[in-house]
Amino acid sequence: MQTRWEVAESPQAWLKRALAQVQTAAAEAIAARGAFHLVLAGGATPLPLYAALAAQPHDYTRWQLWFGDERCLPADDPQRNSRAVQQAWLDKVLIPPGNVHVIPAERGPQAAAAAYAEALRAVDRFDLVLLGLGEDGHTASLFPGQDWGEAEDAPAVLPVYAAPKPPPERVSLSARRLAQTQQALFLVQGAGKRAAVAAWRRGERIPAAAIRPPGGVTVLLDVEAWEGT
Ligand code: 6PG
Repeated sequence: MQTRWEVAESPQAWLKRALAQVQTAAAEAIAARGAFHLVLAGGATPLPLYAALAAQPHDYTRWQLWFGDERCLPADDPQRNSRAVQQAWLDKVLIPPGNVHVIPAERGPQAAAAAYAEALRAVDRFDLVLLGLGEDGHTASLFPGQDWGEAEDAPAVLPVYAAPKPPPERVSLSARRLAQTQQALFLVQGAGKRAAVAAWRRGERIPAAAIRPPGGVTVLLDVEAWEGT
């Protein structure tokens, strides 16, 4: 499996590169299959990308947005990944509500995982999966020391308990399901991620390295996250 490391020299170059990959993937998917299935990353790093997408014209009737993970909090809690995406992007554009597939994480890990696995039966392979990287090497809500769902028969969606990054209860697509994608792009910024990037490059088993799509992954980093790794 190929890991393509790309270092952007400035925040502007990082954002331009990320935006280009989303927009190119969308154009290709819509031209080929009439729809663009995009999995969104949680956390703070992707928010400028979501804001940049809001500033560009898109035919969102063809876009189907999924979430890689969600925190088990009330649906309107500002700490929810879905709320952050809504405020950064979706509140500013016209997208059919049925095209935004929020994980019902307010129902708790088990019930939400079962419900989202059912919803995911509608799409076999994603077109692009966006992922973040935690300082401990986690991605989505797949954390070191827990089950990442790598096996061929692993569930599509996992309930997560005792997550080290609050809140403790979450829902996450499994490594297997996240790898069912045409493209995968990790969005990594900041010196805080340097240790995780170094471990990844040394070949250590971290959750991010367990995401292994047939076409490989691209890791888009800023200089701070890359330097000295
Ligand atoms: C979450 C995210 C998580 C995130 C990383 C990086 O729910 O917290 O899914 O996997 O992507 O922790 O977070 P930052 O981008 O905020 O550093």
